Amino acid sequence: MKIPEARGPLSSALFTALSVTAGTGDATTRVEELRRLVTGELVGTTDVIGDDDVQLALFCLYELHYSGLEGVSDDWEWEPGLIQVRRLLERPFEEALRAAAQSAAGELDLPPAAEMTSDAVADVLFGLAGTDTGPSVSRYVAKKASLDQLKEFLIHKSVYQLKEADPHTWAIPRLTGRPKAALVEIQADEYGGGRPDRMHSALFARTMRGLGMDDQYGAYVNAVPAISLAAVNMMSLFGLNRRLRGAITGHLALYEMTSSRPNRLYGNGFRRHGFDTGVTHYFDEHVEADAVHEQIAGRDLAGGLVEAEPGLLGDVLLGATAAMAIDGRISTHLLACWENGETSLRAAVPAAA
Ligand SMILES: [Fe+2]
Ligand SMILES: [Fe+2]
Repeated sequence: MKIPEARGPLSSALFTALSVTAGTGDATTRVEELRRLVTGELVGTTDVIGDDDVQLALFCLYELHYSGLEGVSDDWEWEPGLIQVRRLLERPFEEALRAAAQSAAGELDLPPAAEMTSDAVADVLFGLAGTDTGPSVSRYVAKKASLDQLKEFLIHKSVYQLKEADPHTWAIPRLTGRPKAALVEIQADEYGGGRPDRMHSALFARTMRGLGMDDQYGAYVNAVPAISLAAVNMMSLFGLNRRLRGAITGHLALYEMTSSRPNRLYGNGFRRHGFDTGVTHYFDEHVEADAVHEQIAGRDLAGGLVEAEPGLLGDVLLGATAAMAIDGRISTHLLACWENGETSLRAAVPAAA
């Protein structure tokens, strides 16, 4: 991914630091400057989840653990000062996610701890997924979205879907036994079951190409608002911190449980504009696959994990409800913009779209 445009002092200082060789005296000075800025800036930030500068800086720090940033040395990945900066940003972000998750969960009616079998955990998660009755982007896409709005929809999704499944994969070595086997079973499908062209990220890239869009990973990062970056950062936070392994499994379970029906509607929206299976394959695939994945993710992955480690129930629910909260906020943003005839993006869509 190319280094995006800075959105404020933090991302600007981060990109300045990354432009020099990691481990040099110059690098240390720049990271120290960045760390000071982070401490100062965070004091004045009231909405970490919606803060463009914070979310972009975090997104790029996490990106060092995925495919990296163009022109930035791989040595930066484990540069201690930069890890420290990441942790400084993660702390308030996690607090904000916990607060948002709490209001999304409402009053949960949980069975007593002794009855928390894997089936009971799955039932609670299915119950949560069923209460997700917020504004529906999928219905809008199916019935009303213009071609430009379909492209915007793909742009928001592209920051995750072009590396679909990667954040949850971090959890594999952090699990054992039944939940580990369940996660690997799901991820094998997400990664195409041995066929690169069937990887979900590849299917999504094909959808983008079908609309004449740039399918390069990160091509539209500059266009998406903080909240779309926050959705991906949330997964990276949960996936990269072993103590949050419950949250990443709850997140995946909720994603799988709220996927099948919306994807049918998304496909319908693109069919309404005359696109065929070349474009809709990504969505059609999820209608089928996620009807199976939701069972494995609910019972064997999240449920199996809570059976093995009952103390992780709270974090499993955190992952699920935080996913609902953040996705709800994205939906509210998209629909408010579209109903007003405005773009939901930060900048006009680049020419390639
Ligand atoms: Fe998928
Ligand atoms: Fe899936």
